[in-house]
Amino acid sequence: MEFDNIVHTRRTCRDFKKKDISMGTIGEVLDISRFAPSAGNVQNWYFIVVKDSEKKEALVDKCKGQAWMNDAPALIVICNKSDDCTKKFKEKGEQFSIQNCAIISSYITLKATDMGLGTAIVGAFNDKEVKRVLDIPNNISPEGIVAIGYPNSLDEDQEREDLRYHTYFESWGNKEFTKGTWPISKPLGKATKKVSQSTNRAKLKASGLLRKVKNKIKN
Ligand SMILES: Cc1cc2nc3c(=O)[nH]c(=O)nc-3n(C[C@H](O)[C@H](O)[C@H](O)COP(=O)(O)O)c2cc1C
Repeated sequence: MEFDNIVHTRRTCRDFKKKDISMGTIGEVLDISRFAPSAGNVQNWYFIVVKDSEKKEALVDKCKGQAWMNDAPALIVICNKSDDCTKKFKEKGEQFSIQNCAIISSYITLKATDMGLGTAIVGAFNDKEVKRVLDIPNNISPEGIVAIGYPNSLDEDQEREDLRYHTYFESWGNKEFTKGTWPISKPLGKATKKVSQSTNRAKLKASGLLRKVKNKIKN
């Protein structure tokens, strides 16, 4: 897929098909993503791929009620070994270590899109509890979770603010620029089936509740 198209097509996916994703496919995504830049090339990112449904459920339980994550056939936990960075960069190390993990997360989502997969970056979780579920040692922190699988639907386009509200020239706050030199905003490309975020969230909430009831009956 052409790059701009990948960027436009990637939208958060919180609605996955009931279809397994192979470790080979996940490997393909991670294998190209590891070429992401990292400060000093320290590559302080580590991945825990969670596919086991019980483990997934235990993990999702620590993600602030985001039950939709259970439908993703895999969750990739991006772990940050910040020591690798702080040894090399001292006081900037911590910041770099987080930035490196954020950058590779983006690469993962973009490569996944290129392969027709859906992803959602999840940051709302309890770090301590996630660490406990996955036996993550003290010096490692879970930086994010990427839910990955085959998309049923993607979220509707979340509007992006115009570039001119986010760009200054030569110094903070200076909005002056020469007319005619500024890039024109491109319309968003067409993605696969999209549903509105509010409809999607209501649907996901209902399926989460249903899952809870089913689990209660099961137990
Ligand atoms: C650092 C980070 C944390 C996020 N955490 C969550 C999350 O916990 N749950 C969720 O549903 N989406 C989460 N998202 C997804 C954002 O809500 C989403 O990217 C944003 O609304 C823009 O929509 P888009 O990804 O479809 O373009 C997170 C995204 C980022 C970058």
